[in-house]
Amino acid sequence: MNATAASVPARDHSLSEAWFERACNVIPGGVHSPVRAFKSVGGKPIYFASAEGARLRDVDGHSYLDFQMSWGPLILGHADPDVVAAVQAVAPLGLSYGATHRTEVELAERIVSAFPGAEMCRFVSSGTEAVMTALRLARGATRRSIVVKFSGGYHGHIDSLLVRAGSGLITGAEAGSEPTSAGIPRDVAATTLVARLGDLEGVAALFRRHGAEIAAVILEPMPANNGLLLQTPAFLRGLRELCTAHGSLLIFDEVISGFRLQFGGYGEMVGVRPDLTTLGKIIGGGLPVGAVVGSRALLELLAPVGPVYQAGTLSGNPVSMAAGLATLRKLENPAVYAKLEALGASLAGALQAEGKGQMQVVRVGSIVWPWLDAAAPPCDAESIPSGAEDGHVRRFNAMHRPLLDAGFYLPPSAYEVLFLSAAHEEADVSALAQAMRGLLT
Ligand SMILES: Cc1ncc(COP(=O)(O)O)c(C=O)c1O
Repeated sequence: MNATAASVPARDHSLSEAWFERACNVIPGGVHSPVRAFKSVGGKPIYFASAEGARLRDVDGHSYLDFQMSWGPLILGHADPDVVAAVQAVAPLGLSYGATHRTEVELAERIVSAFPGAEMCRFVSSGTEAVMTALRLARGATRRSIVVKFSGGYHGHIDSLLVRAGSGLITGAEAGSEPTSAGIPRDVAATTLVARLGDLEGVAALFRRHGAEIAAVILEPMPANNGLLLQTPAFLRGLRELCTAHGSLLIFDEVISGFRLQFGGYGEMVGVRPDLTTLGKIIGGGLPVGAVVGSRALLELLAPVGPVYQAGTLSGNPVSMAAGLATLRKLENPAVYAKLEALGASLAGALQAEGKGQMQVVRVGSIVWPWLDAAAPPCDAESIPSGAEDGHVRRFNAMHRPLLDAGFYLPPSAYEVLFLSAAHEEADVSALAQAMRGLLT
């Protein structure tokens, strides 16, 4: 059982701290992906030794209920026995062939069957690579350069998409697509126009000005990388119409949402069909993977059939493919999604009930974003309060360490969503809600 957060003494993390110190000597910031460094919530990261089901265990021997779940891939929970068995079965047969094998065909068939309108799939090794491939494909198909993205959307660490909008979003590039990272040439950033989520007229204005140069519009149809900035189906339909009218491609980045809410994509759930879909996370069952899915006409523009080059040493490696296939086989059972939906509803209901008016919840299925403020949750990045005005960040940061001490592992950032898995139980979600309640002031 997890204790009520307010009543728990601080845990001793001396072994984690020692490992972090050692890591900082050889790994920049001690981490291989920035948010893991706990910079936004303060304190030092925790070193994990094992995980099973909904639980993590750290090197100091503490147990945690996990609500981060490796940022989304682990929809069945940690070390799901069937996924582990599939990996154990194929690993002795060779970890990588750098050549064709059967499981990559089987997984591709299953994925394509879940995306009506799609006919082909190309595997890569990460979500970033999938998006990179989709952009190159879109540019190759349209012979145009510009890509429209939305502020608050994350698509991996691709040079051209690491840009933020200036304040005049509607005017896009004219307002300056500022790189969000050092090391990105301005000319590369200038191939990206940034629009505001939900602002169809803003996107229409970009098309009026640059329509003949826009290769694609890319977005997470359910934006889940800056909190959960839910969009209306009408907005997604409007983007579909604009892209079709101007001969541009619509790309849905479903690296998070793909297979998370149903056996397939979020686009299909809301009745909007993109030209290309990018996937990752769940389709690798916890091992590195990414994929681009779309029509034969588009996908056969990729080498070796077409002129758009793309390749990868470990693409479609048999171990990731086996983990992905074992995961999708289990997800074909609708009872899994029914359980995830019920758990999500319970967590949202309990958080709202326990929230003393300070806790609201944005949720789709098993993705839950607690918004710790009395004001309405934002629907676009521009509505997110900045700095000291952000009561949500203040409250979240104040509760993050006490929640760790009470045995709840939440993502170390107020603007990351919580992921549930089929390995969570009702008691787990009500324990988290009670613990968060105890920490609200
Ligand atoms: C929507 C979206 N696209 C792309 C990516 C990049 O995927 P990866 O981290 O596997 O490169 C992420 C990662 O979180 C994502 O959430």
